[in-house]
Amino acid sequence: MDDLIRRAAKDLAAARNVAALTGAGISIESGIPPFRGKGGLWERYDPMEFAIDALMRDPAKVWKLFVKELKEPLDRAKPNEGHKGLVKLEARDKLKTIITQNIDGLHQAAGNTDVIEYHGTFAWQRCMDCHKKYETRKVDISEIPPRCECGGILRPNIVFFGETIPAQAIRRSRQAAADCDLMLVVGTSAVVQPAAMIPGIAKDNGAKIVEINPERTPLTDDISDYLIMGGAGEVMNRIVAAMD
Ligand code: APR
Repeated sequence: MDDLIRRAAKDLAAARNVAALTGAGISIESGIPPFRGKGGLWERYDPMEFAIDALMRDPAKVWKLFVKELKEPLDRAKPNEGHKGLVKLEARDKLKTIITQNIDGLHQAAGNTDVIEYHGTFAWQRCMDCHKKYETRKVDISEIPPRCECGGILRPNIVFFGETIPAQAIRRSRQAAADCDLMLVVGTSAVVQPAAMIPGIAKDNGAKIVEINPERTPLTDDISDYLIMGGAGEVMNRIVAAMD
């Protein structure tokens, strides 16, 4: 691993426009469970129990899952060394944009300024009738499902299975991938589309792809220049230290 850490530090030092694609793996060390693999949400639930159809069918049932499996862990979570490492890369004027699949807002909480929330955010709710938005921390969830002043049911401002990625997120992510000369891919299993296509766009535009994950992914053989097999916190800390 030492060689790869030094290689990543050298590549980042030479890079001018770094982008990062992040997934649930970078927030595991903040106490937020991943979706797949050991302890993953989809080990305990059928993903369709969290799909938009399920919410329309039985909002109260799905909201109980939201509160237990999403809101409570998110309310407790704080940025970890993995998030902080990306802030340090931004402070060194290397990292320009983060494209995250995470709905936890931890990159912004850590201090990164340009974060594309590809799958939306749990920090906001919106009414399914009038589309009025509410900050989640101000929403009273003593009554489930929570309702808008118009009477409509509130839903998290996230992209559910069965919904499309907002056009602006797609457009901005494609641009960031095409413009970067190095993309860090941190903590994603790279199996969910269209997010998993983003490193390929960067590669096709000449960028170096550096993957950080304790496990290999579908990107490792064909897209990534190299994979650093380790946890985001430790690896990011060691890379930044090697850059100094
Ligand atoms: N540091 C970095 N990566 C880690 C760590 C760690 N400490 N621990 C585990 N990982 C890796 C796992 O090996 C796995 O490849 O994080 C990845 C987590 O994968 P998923 O749970 O599939 O998360 P993600 O890729 O973000 O899922 C994509 O799927 O369910 C949907 O909308 C949901 O945004 C989510 C999307």
